Amino acid sequence: MNVNQAITNYIDTQTIMPQFYVGDALELLQQFPDDCIDCCITSPPYWNKRQYANGGIGLEADYNKYIKNLVHVFMQVYRVLKPTGSFWLNIGDTYYQKSLLNIPWRVAIALTEKGWILRNTIIWNKVKGGLDNTNDRLRNVYEPMFHFVKQEKQYYYDVDSIRNTPKSTKVVNGAVVSATGVTGVRYKRKIELSTELTDEQKQNALAALDEMLKQVQNGEVSDFRMVIKGAQRTTHSDSERISGRARELHEKGFYFLKYNPKGSKPGDIWDIIPEDTQGRTSHFAPYPADLCRTPIILTCPENGIVLDPFVGTGTSCLVAMEYKRKSIGIDISDEYIFIARERCGQPGNEQFSLSV
Ligand SMILES: C[S@@+](CC[C@H](N)C(=O)[O-])C[C@H]1O[C@@H](n2cnc3c(N)ncnc32)[C@H](O)[C@@H]1O
Repeated sequence: MNVNQAITNYIDTQTIMPQFYVGDALELLQQFPDDCIDCCITSPPYWNKRQYANGGIGLEADYNKYIKNLVHVFMQVYRVLKPTGSFWLNIGDTYYQKSLLNIPWRVAIALTEKGWILRNTIIWNKVKGGLDNTNDRLRNVYEPMFHFVKQEKQYYYDVDSIRNTPKSTKVVNGAVVSATGVTGVRYKRKIELSTELTDEQKQNALAALDEMLKQVQNGEVSDFRMVIKGAQRTTHSDSERISGRARELHEKGFYFLKYNPKGSKPGDIWDIIPEDTQGRTSHFAPYPADLCRTPIILTCPENGIVLDPFVGTGTSCLVAMEYKRKSIGIDISDEYIFIARERCGQPGNEQFSLSV
């Protein structure tokens, strides 16, 4: 069975067992059908840093050639990704002749120039970095993770699936207290003492504040801020021409910023300690399962397909399985694919591992 046929069959199956391929990512991806993958997440080899089992990308003498090779692979990812799909790229930098090369950003720029849309640059803060004996620069404790999409709108993005659980409101001495301690008492005083609001505006502001506190109590709003004319700056721009909020402030004398009752979105700095827990001796750079969780839940629907063209020991596929997504992993090293298969509960199972 050829690769194209194997992938087509896999799309039609109900199994979430990952499918693994041993071989060169570019050569294999070229055989995939168009528009068949929901989410690609990967971490390619660093340039000029590590020796993996079977050579491959990262060993180029010139980093420009390395970037070119990666771009070729990721343009195949573009082709095989559905229009609604997402591509998450974690990539590390390298020092060369004392200077950081800015490799992650060079790759990201090259990809946007080829049509990818960059939605976020996430800083993966490793919290505790590796050993560093240099005494002329700081420790390196972060790596970027880029989130790319193919189209500006309507890519799959289940934002509610990753919201932080909202903190609940309390009632203290008969007064509603929001998660961040807002009771309305200070806002009420500011309105009453305001020299900028008319009497009518004050009455309307007090009534609106009461209504907002009721909504907090009912759980319709988890928290809020009230901006009152003359009391604080507007949150965006004071220019009425460009800010609707500034206009609202001018006309009504106040406005509210409401927090989503479903909870806030995570930000773009993620604190994740690297995993060294599996006691693996043969592979140098597995990424932590926690790094793939948010991307997979957020941008791959259940039963959708996750792809990792540099799957190494299979972390992306393991997490995909955990969340009931299908997955396809490619690696040039049969040794790593063997480990990946074992981790995903396929020891010695040749059925899903095609050697090309
Ligand atoms: C940073 S590691 C990936 C680690 C992986 N995220 C994990 O959790 O184990 C990069 C992988 O890319 C593989 N690789 C290098 N060149 C390749 C190529 N041309 N095609 C496919 N895989 C390649 C290496 O064998 C290595 O396993």
